[in-house]
Parts: sequence; C-alpha cells; structure tokens
Amino acid sequence: MSAIKDFPEPIIDYDNENIYSPAEDTYLIVDYFKNHFEHDFLDGIPVKKIRKILDMGTGTGYIALFFQILKNNVPNFNPNIYASDILEEAIGLSKHNESLNNFNNEIEFIHSDLFANFPNNLKHSFDIIIFNPPYLPSFNSFQPKEKKKNIDNSWDGGTHGFELFTRFLDETITYFKPELDSCIYYICSSRTDLDKLYKIIEDKGFNNKILEKRHVFFEDIYLNKLKLSSV
Ligand SMILES: C[S@@+](CC[C@H](N)C(=O)[O-])C[C@H]1O[C@@H](n2cnc3c(N)ncnc32)[C@H](O)[C@@H]1O
Repeated sequence: MSAIKDFPEPIIDYDNENIYSPAEDTYLIVDYFKNHFEHDFLDGIPVKKIRKILDMGTGTGYIALFFQILKNNVPNFNPNIYASDILEEAIGLSKHNESLNNFNNEIEFIHSDLFANFPNNLKHSFDIIIFNPPYLPSFNSFQPKEKKKNIDNSWDGGTHGFELFTRFLDETITYFKPELDSCIYYICSSRTDLDKLYKIIEDKGFNNKILEKRHVFFEDIYLNKLKLSSV
C-alpha cells in the first residue's frame, strides 16, 4: 500500500463567505493523522476496530473527506464517516464537495446544533470525534444575538472562547463510545485561558493530552486528544 502522503487531497470548493475555509487549524488536524498512520494503526488504534468517526462542525467537509479518502485507500479501514454542522449552508457545501471528490452519499451528514438532532441509534457509538470548534473569545459579548453573522459560528466560542466547547463536552459523553481506544481530537488557542479550559476538561472526566502546537499570526493553536478518565 502506498504511503498516506501519496493519497489524493480532498478537492474543496470553499467560495462561500458564510463558511470557514480550510486553514492552519484544519491542516494541523489532517497532518497529524497523516503523520500517525502506520501499519494499519491510526494514532495507535488498530484501523479495523474503528467503526464510526464524526467530524463535528465540518464546514466545507474537508476533514470528513480526508477520512473518506483514507477509507477508500486502506483495505482494513472501514468506518462510517459522519459530518455535522449548525449551518445548513455548510451541510449543502460539504455534500457538493463530497460529489466533487466522486463520492456518492457515502458520508452521513447531520444538520445539528452540536448533538441536538443526532438519532438515538448513534448514542455511545463514535470511536473518534474530531472537533475544530469556534475557539476564540467573542469580541463583543454585548452584541445582540440577531447581529451574529453565519461566519461568526466559525470563530466565536463564547465569552471566554470555550463556552461552546464546554457544552460540546457535556453532550459528547452520550455519543462517544466508552472504550479504551476511543478519543476526541480538538483544537484550542492561546488566546483563551488554557489552564481554565484544561481544568474544566479534567472536572468533566477527561484526560487531556496536547499533541501538537503551531504558531499562527497572533496565537498558538494546539491540537489535543481527550480520553475518558474512567475507562
Ligand atoms: C473553525 S470552523 C471549522 C470548520 C472545519 N471543520 C475545518 O476544520 O475547516 C468551526 C465550524 O463549527 C461549526 N459550528 C459552530 N457552532 C456549532 C454548533 N453549535 N454545532 C455544530 N457546528 C457548529 C461552524 O459552523 C464551523 O463550520
């Protein structure tokens, strides 16, 4: 089998001012998986054990498509790929991008505010969840909600930058498979109070491991991995 670096990159149409275009944080995630795929193990997890992957907040669908391409190229890697977003437009663009890559309804798309519209049969089922969330503090917490533009969903994580992510942690417990190999990958930024964020994460019953750090313009962004402390 050829190296993962030789697999095709997702082809993405991202010409939509309401939707986040793939950026450094997106590539930090994808590059990590490219660099940690070896001999049928994805970041140490045997690929044949991975049944369901969720790309939460999929935007253009780039991360979900990366996994779909991986699935197409790796014989024992056969998970169902799910992608969700709060923006209906993002789901529409991701579906368009799915067909640009010659996939025909292979990714399951869910239009949802976090897990609100997820069906019951997905409870406790995801082996891997990836979330590149809106992670910056709101510029102006006093701005009326109705003034919020669609693109603000890409960066505005709440007053401290991690309120949305905290809500995600509360809801994800219900959909995450409680097994040793299961993990959540997410991005956070030095522009938030990281000590406070990591304390919240620990209090909610997760172990946090910082995997990578990248300096981008005015901030450091971090790729982290979460596992349940109780398994
Ligand atoms: C930083 S962008 C990341 C987009 C894409 N995953 C990437 O890495 O290029 C954050 C995404 O999360 C979505 N999002 C924001 N709030 C959400 C929520 N409550 N539920 C689901 N998706 C949400 C946004 O619409 C946006 O597409």
